[in-house]
Amino acid sequence: MHFHSEVNIVQGVDIVQQVSKALREEFFSELNLCKDTSAVEQLRVKYLGKKGPIQDLMKSLKSGTPEEKRVLGKEVNDLKEEIASKIGETAAFMRKREIDEQLLNEKIDVTLPGRRSFAGRKHPVSAAMDEILEILMEMGFSVQYGPDIDTDYYNFGALNFAPDHPARDMQDTFYIAPNVLLRTHTSNVQARVMEQHRPPIRIVAPGNAYRNETITARSHVFFHQIEGLYIDKGVSFADLLSTLEEFYKKLFRADITLRCRPSYFPFVEPGMEVDISCLQCNRRGCSLCKYSGWLEVCGAGLVHPEVLKNGDVDPEIYSGYAFGMGVERTLLLKKGVSDIRLLSENDLRFLQQFDAI
Ligand code: PHE
Repeated sequence: MHFHSEVNIVQGVDIVQQVSKALREEFFSELNLCKDTSAVEQLRVKYLGKKGPIQDLMKSLKSGTPEEKRVLGKEVNDLKEEIASKIGETAAFMRKREIDEQLLNEKIDVTLPGRRSFAGRKHPVSAAMDEILEILMEMGFSVQYGPDIDTDYYNFGALNFAPDHPARDMQDTFYIAPNVLLRTHTSNVQARVMEQHRPPIRIVAPGNAYRNETITARSHVFFHQIEGLYIDKGVSFADLLSTLEEFYKKLFRADITLRCRPSYFPFVEPGMEVDISCLQCNRRGCSLCKYSGWLEVCGAGLVHPEVLKNGDVDPEIYSGYAFGMGVERTLLLKKGVSDIRLLSENDLRFLQQFDAI
């Protein structure tokens, strides 16, 4: 028995030694192939993990005699420690190398030229709108918005356009359904405001307007307008004129003169087109004003009594004025934009010529 077990130990020792020798060699050859810390970590899990070969060897010793356990246990333990320390050493070495490499690669070269960052800015139309609104707000107007898609009533009916009146032809309309349309002007806000507020009303309404026009350098199917409406007791034509003059002086930062030409809009009476003295030549005549000396800037007039009535405002007690101006047109005059189409083409070469505000 004794002899037998001796042989067993010898055989056991032999086998375990062979296995651990092979394991050791295999480990070192695999370690040599590791290129980075994560590969080393994988190796650690593979050899020293719960399901690894070292653990298997340990388990196989359980059935051995105390003597076997002593001899072979030490053998396996030595191998385990050798692998663990070798892994620790290699990982530390590689980590250092990786950090060194990172420091080298991520070094900031302060001599490189800076990269230009792209600063966004307001679209010139938005910037012009904001500037106009700011001046009008300073003058006591508050801002109201109306819908782009509206009914025939608010765009035309409430504004005293008779159903078959040719004045509708002045504004070629995009109809969506028989009584629903894209507003042709921001005047659609007038009746809405009167429905919701009692006078005094002093508002400006900015927004888009749409007309089925041929697209040219000077007209487009969509554009922006700002409507003004002031209703109170005793509002007069003189109030309208002085307000517009003050406004355009502020907007163009110039001592302009106002000129009014009678014109027809069904919702104002009297109605007019307003010109300002040419910003470029001051009425001497130039290409900007087409040698007329004047630049057309807006439509305006005193609110028609019918419109007041439609808004449930008594024309015997109240009067008011309204004006409507095109934003693109103002930009054309103020910034010398020669073609209105440029404003909706989103070409950065064009847009970047405007001040970043
Ligand atoms: N809504 C008119 C237009 O677009 C302009 C206007 C507004 C005229 C207010 C008079 C009063 O042509």
